[in-house]
Amino acid sequence: PTVKQNKGGLEGIIAATTAISKVDGTAGRLIYRGYDIHDLARTSTFEEVAHLLWFGHLPDQKELASLHEKFVAERTIPELVLHNIRELPDNSQPMDVLRTAVSAWGAISISGKPSIDQAIAATARFPLFLAAFNRYRQGLEPLESRSELGHAANYLYLLTGELPKEEHVRGLNSYLVLLADHGMNASTFTARIVASTESDIASSLVAALGALKGPLHGGAPSKVQDMIHSIGSVENAEPWIRNAITTGGRLMGFGHRVYKTFDPRAEELREMARVADPDNFLLAHHVEETAQRLLDELKPGRRLYTNVEYYSAALMNAVGLSGDLFTPTFAVSRCAGWTAHILEQANNNRLIRPEAEYTGPLSETFVPLSERK
Ligand code: CMC
Repeated sequence: PTVKQNKGGLEGIIAATTAISKVDGTAGRLIYRGYDIHDLARTSTFEEVAHLLWFGHLPDQKELASLHEKFVAERTIPELVLHNIRELPDNSQPMDVLRTAVSAWGAISISGKPSIDQAIAATARFPLFLAAFNRYRQGLEPLESRSELGHAANYLYLLTGELPKEEHVRGLNSYLVLLADHGMNASTFTARIVASTESDIASSLVAALGALKGPLHGGAPSKVQDMIHSIGSVENAEPWIRNAITTGGRLMGFGHRVYKTFDPRAEELREMARVADPDNFLLAHHVEETAQRLLDELKPGRRLYTNVEYYSAALMNAVGLSGDLFTPTFAVSRCAGWTAHILEQANNNRLIRPEAEYTGPLSETFVPLSERK
């Protein structure tokens, strides 16, 4: 039987079954394979969570060491991919560079059915591709990865050439854990659609990167930063936000398709941003409280709360990432979730192929080209 959706955007439609993560939008809960995100965010590393998503359980020490070794072995960029990254103009968007690099890497490195080894190979390389571009655009050569560093620390090292501070590594690790998976979000759904055609893992990831880039999904954090800069002061918050909402603007970092209460990831990130950068936190927090109050007043009943993107910007800024690396760093994290979903789809596949309700005409009279006016 065909089911018609009400509001569009597939809202409320169950498009797949998954054992990877659950978003409870009413309770404000996020679970990865049974574990509450609050527990994972505070103590786990990105590698532990990637293991959980791919293999279905948290690793013991031996399994974690083995995963680290696999990551280290994959920290290479083929010359052809490096060439592609080098040739792109310095002012390219890092998100576009990442998409291009993954595509070039896939062309020479990936074939056959998606596997966990391919998931590890891709996830290990996302930070390398980004850092290589970041170095080239500064007129510098890319650096060699350091085998003793974990995923988050190595990414920061490759970007800056300096051993990162412990608190920066901890902050980035928590960020990478919090963003690693999130139910049937737009980019994950995209990745699963491509996987459902029995295409390869790199093609799924390229498609997912395209979906993540848009401001309604992963492209919001730099726009949050722009918004806070443009507000500029505590006094300007109320008039600026009131004007934005009443003229039909969308406040970046607020609202969510599934959460109709606080986003648990935003709560974690708020706390981390408060500790990481107390000075900038004051304005960001004031803007948040004002926006929350005005959204409630001017958009009553819509239940618009702070989403994950709002404090992502503040946290990434505090660990030293520039604004145009915010969305690609989201991808560094989400690659674990995307690949887990690609594997889940590929291992129990049926082509994803919904229907459309046709709203065009039904019986136009055909006129040959030579007679058309
Ligand atoms: N600012 C002002 N009004 C909003 C906002 C917002 N951020 N979000 C929703 N609304 C209003 C919208 O105008 C509409 O009002 P009305 O009933 O008067 O027409 C109502 O709330 C429902 O909006 P919708 O477009 O049906 O909601 P949606 O479920 O399709 O949109 C969303 C979800 C995330 C796209 C949207 O809330 C939004 O555009 N937020 C700003 C962009 C943003 O922060 N994106 C990051 C999303 S979280 C990370 C991720 O999932 O990747």
